[in-house]
Amino acid sequence: MWVCDNDNSMHPLLSEWLNVLVRWAHVVAAIMWIGDSFLFMWLDAHLSKQLTKARDGDIVGELWMTHSGGFYEVVKRKTLAQHELPPTLYWFKWESYSTWITGFLLIAIVYWAGGRAMMLDATSPLTQGQAVLFSLGLLIAAVVVYDLLCRTPVYVDNRVFGVVGLALVTATAAALLQVFTPRAVFLQVGAMLGTVMASNVFFRIIPNQKRMLASTQAGEPVDATHGLKAKNRSTHNHYATLPVLFLMLSNHFPSLYGHEHAWAVLALVCVFGVGMKYLMNFRRRTPPVIVLGTLASFSAAAAMTVPATPDVGAPVAYAEARRIIEARCLPCHAAKPTLPGIIAPPKGVVFDSAADIVAAKDRIYLQSVNTKAMPLGNITAMTDEERATLGRWIAQGAPTE
Ligand code: HEC
Repeated sequence: MWVCDNDNSMHPLLSEWLNVLVRWAHVVAAIMWIGDSFLFMWLDAHLSKQLTKARDGDIVGELWMTHSGGFYEVVKRKTLAQHELPPTLYWFKWESYSTWITGFLLIAIVYWAGGRAMMLDATSPLTQGQAVLFSLGLLIAAVVVYDLLCRTPVYVDNRVFGVVGLALVTATAAALLQVFTPRAVFLQVGAMLGTVMASNVFFRIIPNQKRMLASTQAGEPVDATHGLKAKNRSTHNHYATLPVLFLMLSNHFPSLYGHEHAWAVLALVCVFGVGMKYLMNFRRRTPPVIVLGTLASFSAAAAMTVPATPDVGAPVAYAEARRIIEARCLPCHAAKPTLPGIIAPPKGVVFDSAADIVAAKDRIYLQSVNTKAMPLGNITAMTDEERATLGRWIAQGAPTE
């Protein structure tokens, strides 16, 4: 987005506009999709079998709601008889498709066309083109692997499926950390899960509902296993929502993706997300083991990210700290950046003067000592010794004389 290291990259201003417009659309679409998912899960969990009046058909339950100045009467039927078919039946699918389409555009704009440093460390042997192909291939592979997993006995029990799924996600993250920058890994894993979710809607949930509807229209007996299968996939999607949202947002938090064992942080926060969703759905009916597991996974993730006490060590002169920042950060973080393709200092963060540096010392520590989030993709080849020296200078109170 900010960085283009070859002449083929998009103009930075054009890329910023595209970024903000597509991101906006993506967030709106995702709110609609997730909102539907939460609402329908909630409806299912609150249906009452005690009907307020006699109703015909294959009734599962009913519930009453009030919202925006009116009262809504909801009745769930597992199947419809031919004569019960309404003139208009509303489907919920474009929320999902548009979330995926805008998400795909966003990963393309921010990561694939955003310059090599967004995905690859400067020392990586891969070219940017190879990284893009690999990233794209992984999105497809995720759908294939998930679908195969759904054909194994693991599929029968959602708890077992969850454990195996988590192990696969964690292993994928650990493997990808060898290839991509940690920030890109979190986003990639989120995009893979999001692609699986959208593929569930496109390939399973909607087609199965269409099959049921076709049988109803033809006056044939409806095979209820279609509905069950759709419900199962929809449950997988539902529990993936909080982990996926976390992975998408994690990109702003280097303490999480920049951790030495980032795959473990990822796994713990995913467990926390699934646990929270369970708690939101079942509240007081949640088994204590799930409550404890949810709290424990969050505490463990939080504890992992507490930085080690900074090493004060031998005194570091300001001139030394300044030299490091000038060489490694200023090409981007200056009022007039010198790295080709950077038209303005990223996020307005500049280190031109001693006062700028001192004011930002905690952020500098977080981004380039506690984690290696900066320099982006280590494009300016900052060494570990330099990180340690800069860390010592900050731990000494960042003296400027
Ligand atoms: C290749 C250009 C580049 C270099 C070199 C670079 N940065 Fe950055 N920096 C970025 C970009 C891009 C962002 C915005 C990241 C984002 O979108 O979240 C950023 C953001 C930051 C932020 C703000 C993070 C936040 O959201 O609070 C800090 C602090 C920072 N960099 C520190 C550093 C330090 C310290 C160095 C040198 C050790 C450095 N950067 C080197 C490109 C660079």
